[in-house]
Amino acid sequence: MPASRRGSGSVTLPTGQTLAIHTRTQDEEDLPHATKKTMADHLRKYESLFTLTPQRMRMIVEAFTETLELGLNKTNQIVPMIPTYVFGWPSGKETGDFLALDLGGTNLRVCLVTLQGEGKFEITQTKYRLTEEQKQEDGQKLFDFCAECLKTFVETNIGEGPGQLKPGQSLPLGFTFSYPCSQERIDHGELIRWTKGFGATNTEGRDVAEMFKKSLEKYELPIQLTALINDTTGTLIASHYVNPRTKIAVIFGTGCNAAYMEHVKDIGKIEHLGIDPGAEMAINCEWGAFDSFEHEHLPRTKYDAVVDDTSNKPGEQAFEKLISGRYLGEILRLVICELIDEGVLFLGQNTYKLEKPYCFDTAFLSLMESDPTDELLMIIGIFTHFFALETTLAERQFFRALAMLIGRRAARLSACGIAAIVSKQGYLEEGCSVGADGSLYNKYPGFADRVHEGLQDIFGDKGRYVRHYCPAPSANLVLIFISYDKKQKRRRSVPPRLSVFNVMRVASLERLDKHVFSLRPML
Ligand code: GLC
Repeated sequence: MPASRRGSGSVTLPTGQTLAIHTRTQDEEDLPHATKKTMADHLRKYESLFTLTPQRMRMIVEAFTETLELGLNKTNQIVPMIPTYVFGWPSGKETGDFLALDLGGTNLRVCLVTLQGEGKFEITQTKYRLTEEQKQEDGQKLFDFCAECLKTFVETNIGEGPGQLKPGQSLPLGFTFSYPCSQERIDHGELIRWTKGFGATNTEGRDVAEMFKKSLEKYELPIQLTALINDTTGTLIASHYVNPRTKIAVIFGTGCNAAYMEHVKDIGKIEHLGIDPGAEMAINCEWGAFDSFEHEHLPRTKYDAVVDDTSNKPGEQAFEKLISGRYLGEILRLVICELIDEGVLFLGQNTYKLEKPYCFDTAFLSLMESDPTDELLMIIGIFTHFFALETTLAERQFFRALAMLIGRRAARLSACGIAAIVSKQGYLEEGCSVGADGSLYNKYPGFADRVHEGLQDIFGDKGRYVRHYCPAPSANLVLIFISYDKKQKRRRSVPPRLSVFNVMRVASLERLDKHVFSLRPML
């Protein structure tokens, strides 16, 4: 057992025997634990650190709105507001077989969707969990892995024979690549930077669609990459398919980001392309980067600063680091470690298991908050099973309250981002729906309600009619309908335009299983 660097821990003797060491503050036979009052005092301190007032939220919204405008009008901005070349919405009448690959922050998903028209479909999907090595090794290797998974999937689920792939026939593939890519056309995407802890080498600055095509060739797959799309853009299109009032889509998962439909006339930085100013184009905001480097607008605590400094991308994704599933558990772990260092928690117990960065999964926060028992048995389980630590009820209540503060701050900050798009687009009066998806949104208890509460704090009375509902309880996929206007392709300097759904693609599963915020005007 490794020795703890803290006041309490253990030493291993040459005989192999382990001795617990700790500084006792009182002469009791039991392990020394912090009192209820001590925990309550500490909680008050964290409450003031992690609580966002409505006034502060409105200030953030104002700065956020300006940042979004800047990204639309100037190139190379921190929040890049990426034009996606996805124009307009699907009709819902599309049919056919479509292959989709979804490279997210945690998993790789491959799926085949058969759209049968009138909203009916069939889906087959496989999910692979990505290893830490795959996230950090050479990028081409990562795409090779994606192609390999696709090959296995195609061989297992498609094969040859009647109604299957004929020799020489290829399947269109949509690639949901959930990282910031600047696009010149739909089947192209230069990776601006990795986010969510990825760091695969030889990839940033390169066209990932080209890299992936190389891997498809290597594995001799009968597949044609027709589109590269961000998960937010996919969710936007899919949510609108389900609920035509949808104007914005947000992902609250390992990362956090949003997309919405913008008027081409308001995307100043692409004016020179001569696209019909009356058209609408989806914008992938990449809002996770808001307030990066300068840290002027967001309420960062010292724990957030440590998360940032020790990340593989210090300074970057400042907004995302306060909100997304990748970081919330780590923020809570850092607070607990500070209290261990101060001798408040776990005296006499070996805390080495808790000292490993990122060992405290965000799912634990969600479990702690949803523990229905008076004794908080779930929390006992988490601490004993994963960290070999004993807790008192007062400590468990404190952990739960802390999880609530961190989760609530994340939800309220998310509300600021949504409010910025709503204000900028003037949706408050006319009303709109926001499609929301991702593990944090779907699995974290109360997250959606807290976003709503946050929107009401920002907008006052007008936020009272913010509602959410699940638009397609039985559905479980994202449909991305993409078309390719060939006439546009022939015109030089104008990127291919997607508007008539003649090439259709399903880009990602597990996306219609989402909730939608309904932003209703006051009656
Ligand atoms: C990160 C990525 C972004 C993605 C989001 C949600 O913020 O940069 O592209 O949409 O995570 O997955």
